[in-house]
Amino acid sequence: MSNYTVGYFVGSLARASINRKLALALTRLAPTELRMREIPIGELPLYSYDYDAAFPPAARALKDAIAAVDAVLFVTPEYNRSIPGALKNAIDWASRPYGQNSFTRKPSAVIGTSPGKIGTAVGQQHLRSILAFCNSPLMNAIEAYIQFEKGLITDEGEVTNSSTADFLRNYMTEFHGFISRVYTVLPRGGS
Ligand SMILES: Cc1cc2nc3c(=O)[nH]c(=O)nc-3n(C[C@H](O)[C@H](O)[C@H](O)COP(=O)(O)O)c2cc1C
Repeated sequence: MSNYTVGYFVGSLARASINRKLALALTRLAPTELRMREIPIGELPLYSYDYDAAFPPAARALKDAIAAVDAVLFVTPEYNRSIPGALKNAIDWASRPYGQNSFTRKPSAVIGTSPGKIGTAVGQQHLRSILAFCNSPLMNAIEAYIQFEKGLITDEGEVTNSSTADFLRNYMTEFHGFISRVYTVLPRGGS
């Protein structure tokens, strides 16, 4: 299968984010055919359509970063049973101006971790709904709801539980296969 570049979003702005640790772990466990790079969202102002005529540099950089990758991966916490406002703001920026939605035909996947037992499941359902509207081909399975226990992932992104490491490695392998299938059906540059 081919090589692809994956841009990942971390839905949390917190310095000690457990989802950032998860993103680091996924980067380490991804198959070598996937090149991983973060698409930062922390510097974006709050979106308004007043900006549509002239996007500020941070928003322009966001859209350029998405255009430069083959697929996007959302690694996000659940806030109040939905997605964090910072992530929704980034998605709103990327989806605009009207007719220039950056997610159109861009393969995506979602994953997240929380200390709670349902591991971001409700937030991920909201994100799936948003990505469907944004016309992103979204990996349906496998789903990944990771309950974070202290020490599960080190600051360096090492997963300390071998069955979780195997699961996350398989998740990234599945994502690689999914990206490949999307581009088989929808070749890039096609109409
Ligand atoms: C505003 C806010 C809302 C939260 N809502 C939820 C929630 O709905 N479900 C949940 O499992 N955890 C919730 N939490 C706890 C988070 O899962 C926990 O803070 C986790 O560390 C967030 O991930 P992060 O460290 O990557 O930011 C919430 C935390 C905050 C700050």
